[in-house]
Amino acid sequence: MSNFRKGSFGLLMLLLLLSILATLVVVDAGISVPINGLMIHYYEKNTTCKSAEYLVKLEVKKMWDLDHSITPALLRLAYSDCLVTGCDASILLDGKGSEKTAPQNSGLRGFAVIDRIKKILEDKCPGIVSCADILQLATKEAAALAGAPKYPVYTGRKDGMKSNASTVDLPPPSISWNKALAYFKLKGLDVLDLGTLLGAHTTGVTHCRYIVDRLYNFKNTKKPDPSMNSTLLNQLRKSCPRTTKPGQVQDPVVFLNPETNSNYSFTNSYYQRVLDHNAVLGIDQSFLSSTDGFRIAYEFANGFQDFKLSFSLAIDRMASLGVLTGDKGEIRRNCRFINADNPGNFSN
Ligand code: HEM
Repeated sequence: MSNFRKGSFGLLMLLLLLSILATLVVVDAGISVPINGLMIHYYEKNTTCKSAEYLVKLEVKKMWDLDHSITPALLRLAYSDCLVTGCDASILLDGKGSEKTAPQNSGLRGFAVIDRIKKILEDKCPGIVSCADILQLATKEAAALAGAPKYPVYTGRKDGMKSNASTVDLPPPSISWNKALAYFKLKGLDVLDLGTLLGAHTTGVTHCRYIVDRLYNFKNTKKPDPSMNSTLLNQLRKSCPRTTKPGQVQDPVVFLNPETNSNYSFTNSYYQRVLDHNAVLGIDQSFLSSTDGFRIAYEFANGFQDFKLSFSLAIDRMASLGVLTGDKGEIRRNCRFINADNPGNFSN
């Protein structure tokens, strides 16, 4: 039997459904069951900031109406935060040598979205809502607006006090399936989490520098990646020329999923593209190099509901990694600085 979570996929989906229902029952009954020290509606139940989640939702909607690309921006930000030293908002900290300065994090967007929400929450209830929770709540709202499920977000995280580029071990874009899986396992996630969370590449963009190897010199063969569909190859070569002329954008971006493109919508079309050899990043095409990867891509390409269900659980597992609760960490007043370094120009 493969090491895909035990049992057949149908059974797995039933279990996923039961888990979601169980979560919903807990929520509906209003019972606070701490998970990793987190709970549903922490701010409503345990603080004076009862409207925190509502305010996040309101602000995200306003910003999403102006710019739908905040959905992929926040999804990637959440991934970059949680996989490195846990979901502690360390990715948001400014400063020389902080995580956001690591090469893997270049091109990260969405910091201003979090700043704006934080400002509103600090005005309303100073010092109560953590940046780490704001990032998770805002990601959920933006993803839901794009078509993702409205998964429950457990809250009560504190913010970390350190951020160091040397801790950033996020894998490169053409990493093999097995190496990506080993990385996810190291962080406490599994093969279904990997296959499901990569589905976030259904929306958003990549810089050409992350795919030029696939277009022109795959594994130093001086030839393109043979696994890439030739029509896609020709399209991408036009958008990502081997050399750029003066005056041209040096490192343009292309859509990770040309089908959702500038709508930035959340669909399962990514998985059909994987099956059709139309994936843009090397890691995305690598599903087909593994039996489990193929089965996941096949299942989700043919079942948006299954993908949505699995996404709800996988993103919750990601959002639970290495959280700080209780007396660990702090509630930052400005997401870009730990409180001791806050330049103090943050009004409240
Ligand atoms: C092995 C794992 C992964 C690799 C190698 C990888 C790699 C990449 C790369 C190279 C980009 C393009 C970045 C740029 O050009 O600025 C990207 C974008 C993106 N990634 Fe991933 N990623 C991985 C996992 C994830 C996960 C788990 C998520 C979320 C749950 C995610 C969400 C995104 C999103 C939404 C974008 C588009 C960002 C935007 O439009 O600004 N990725 N990823």
